[in-house]
Amino acid sequence: MSDLTGLRDDVYRRPLATALERLGLGPGWRCLDVGAGGGDVSVALAEMVGHEGRVYAVDSDPLARDEVARTAAAHTQVIALTQAGEDLILPEQVDLAFCRFLLLHVRDPAVVVRRMAAVVRPGGWVVAQEPITSAGRVAGMPLSMPDARHPDIGALLPSLVREAGLDVIDAWAEAPAGVGEGPVARYLESLTGVDPEEDPVVLPPLVTVIGRRPSAGSEAASQ
Ligand SMILES: C[S@@+](CC[C@H](N)C(=O)[O-])C[C@H]1O[C@@H](n2cnc3c(N)ncnc32)[C@H](O)[C@@H]1O
Repeated sequence: MSDLTGLRDDVYRRPLATALERLGLGPGWRCLDVGAGGGDVSVALAEMVGHEGRVYAVDSDPLARDEVARTAAAHTQVIALTQAGEDLILPEQVDLAFCRFLLLHVRDPAVVVRRMAAVVRPGGWVVAQEPITSAGRVAGMPLSMPDARHPDIGALLPSLVREAGLDVIDAWAEAPAGVGEGPVARYLESLTGVDPEEDPVVLPPLVTVIGRRPSAGSEAASQ
């Protein structure tokens, strides 16, 4: 299992670790984390790519840049940028463009996935992890997220990735579940403000899609 120490308490850590392990992410990789938020995933990526690598932590909220700067203070390979995913421009191509819990909030998820695909080098990777909120359950009842523009975007993720011109290498859904006191109940309470107490909880399944940009030779051959 990859050493994602920065994500120890994250209930969605397992699909992230599985995806990164699958890619063979390691020293020297250049990565992009779009919708980086507080920067937890950016820091975990930075630890894996080391000081020869680079992690662009991009978020449209200017406050996120300060937060990432604090979270990543010890990691000079993390570069925090204020940009919307729809307008993504980087100074170099990256080996991996990543997003998690981002596309459910953006105006046009297809545009953002296309921008992510465009900043990846030929042969590089796009990994997106997005929820199917209504497939989550508390006491058997579906969850909702009224503030999100596309709460069930995970259900469309494989086609979004393919329509961006990427090969879909793998795709799966994974949902943390539990009952009573524990990380699943705490996570749900942080999302909804409601403690599920002894009700059984299935958190929204997170759909992971691993996409790969065709290598330069195969792009030219298919034209
Ligand atoms: C729920 S947080 C996800 C944080 C982090 N990716 C994680 O998995 O813990 C969503 C983040 O996406 C950012 N965001 C929303 N719309 C965006 C956009 N169009 N472009 C870039 N970031 C955006 C928000 O400011 C917020 O920080």
